[in-house]
Amino acid sequence: MCGIVGYIGREQAAPVLLNGLKRLEYRGYDSSGVAVHSDGSLRVVKAKGRLDVLDGLLEQGTKLPGTVGIGHTRWATHGAPSDINSHPQTSDGGLFAVVHNGIIENYLHLKNHLTRRGVDFVSDTDTEVVAQMLEYYYKGDVLEAIRQVTERVQGSYALGIICADCPEKVFAVRKDSPLIVGLGEGESFIASDVTAILSYTRRICRLQDREIAVLEQDRVSFYDPELYPIEKPAEQVEWDVASAEKGGYEHFMMKEICEQPEALRKTISPRLQDGKVVLDDVCLSREQITRLSRVYIVACGTSYHVGAVAKYAFEKLLRLPIEVDVASEFRYRDPVLDERTLVIIISQSGETADTLAALREAKRQGARTLAIVNVVGSTIANEANDVLYTWAGPEIAVASTKAYSTQLAVVYLIALYMAQELQALPPEELDGYLQELQRLPELAEKCLEDKETIQYFASQYFNAKDMYFIGRNVDYAASLEASLKLKEISYIHSEAYTAGELKHGPISLMEEGTLVIAICTCRRLFEKMMANIKEVKARGAVVLGITTQELADTLAQEADWQFCVPRTADFMLPSMSILPLQLFAYYAASMKGCDIDKPRNLAKSVTVE
Ligand code: G6P
Repeated sequence: MCGIVGYIGREQAAPVLLNGLKRLEYRGYDSSGVAVHSDGSLRVVKAKGRLDVLDGLLEQGTKLPGTVGIGHTRWATHGAPSDINSHPQTSDGGLFAVVHNGIIENYLHLKNHLTRRGVDFVSDTDTEVVAQMLEYYYKGDVLEAIRQVTERVQGSYALGIICADCPEKVFAVRKDSPLIVGLGEGESFIASDVTAILSYTRRICRLQDREIAVLEQDRVSFYDPELYPIEKPAEQVEWDVASAEKGGYEHFMMKEICEQPEALRKTISPRLQDGKVVLDDVCLSREQITRLSRVYIVACGTSYHVGAVAKYAFEKLLRLPIEVDVASEFRYRDPVLDERTLVIIISQSGETADTLAALREAKRQGARTLAIVNVVGSTIANEANDVLYTWAGPEIAVASTKAYSTQLAVVYLIALYMAQELQALPPEELDGYLQELQRLPELAEKCLEDKETIQYFASQYFNAKDMYFIGRNVDYAASLEASLKLKEISYIHSEAYTAGELKHGPISLMEEGTLVIAICTCRRLFEKMMANIKEVKARGAVVLGITTQELADTLAQEADWQFCVPRTADFMLPSMSILPLQLFAYYAASMKGCDIDKPRNLAKSVTVE
């Protein structure tokens, strides 16, 4: 969703804000704006469109002098993308400028209340109500006005605020939307995400719900919701600047695809010690695992597709009932949970609104929660009973790749850890799986060596209108992710089907030239897949098969095209088969001229419902 940034220091604020916004653009990119304390008043420049438009208006920041300011990149929720609906939003009398990420749920009620008292609104946004309320409640004390406003607004917010009366301060407050404070030498920052300020500082503080930060050039003060001063320890961020930059690649997505072997290594190696799985500080003793009656896996988007693979892995290794749920459904369907349920929450950002709500629901019902998260210190990481981090580094492209791969690795680790503690497998079998897991980074490296074959294949089909991905078992789970990747960035309509369902509907869509991508790495179900491939071919479909070397000759008898991935343990095969299909989505999107890192209408971090 939206990205916010704020600066106070000795430098000119506008260029720093623009630089920060560039790194946050993945969160939203339909409009942007900045507000700066300039010559005794607040000056706001904002515009519909990508950040380049704002950059041009500001002539790279030089047009707006001043050392204190806030900035925003927007993903519209309330009010269409337009200059007027862009942030910062300002108050009627021009005293306050506000940038906001989140949704003020009761904004209509508050807006009507203020309108009746003579306040004029100019935008369709929920955010304007915050700016107007601040001015309405302001009696010379900004902190008190913030307290009054946060007491009245419902919903989620991360807010950056400046006030014309306080030219040497930036204010920030948040609830259920991420916001960090960066501590530099003689300068301070606020940002939705640490990547926005990594080139300035790696010392940060995380605001908790309704805590307020007041930034001045040489210090930052923190207050609790009742305005009592509080101390907040600073933490050092491990990510380096280079990891949030393209480093010679044309797109973040290709960089992140290529980073997968290394990300896998960092995620897996520290957790395999002396032939055993060691899971950080996770408290899941043998007794606790034995008592589990059910495991739920809950997530959104790509992270949900990791759950789809996990179901097969857990059931195979543990013979334990597993349910995989989309977080937005789970949170509202009154799931049956108790203290014998383990709920595994998967989230790259650790901030997805529905996933966070699902976590809270699980805890409310007394279930044990374990989160798989990439962003250290994020809300989900903080609130879950246990957390296992994916060590993927910052993922900037909206379409997730290395987060998916590392989440899969963590899922395998958890399943194998539980099998190890329960002694659910013969020792040689467990050993074999652990060795396969250890080899995963090297196999991924090998798999990514041949990009040209996929690039050529994409050049033949990037103009297709529709595509179908089919598979069985884990191959079906991988199909879900492959199909999502393609539609997210290339806008080609695609669907994923279990191959066994073809006859129950989708086969009616097969006609001369329809492209079907058949993932067939599962040996046990290979013959079944061959039969499905024959069926679609008989209706004129063109088939690309993704398989492993020892099945390739047989597959070649039916498939028009094929690509071989290295073989590993059956339940880990999606870690291989997804790699060429990420590349395929990338090349198809690139050939169509799509904006790969920032696909239309999408945002990386969905912090509103
Ligand atoms: C958005 C992103 C996806 C991501 C999903 C869940 O839709 O575009 O790439 O998979 O949110 O995000 P999370 O951070 O919870 O994994």
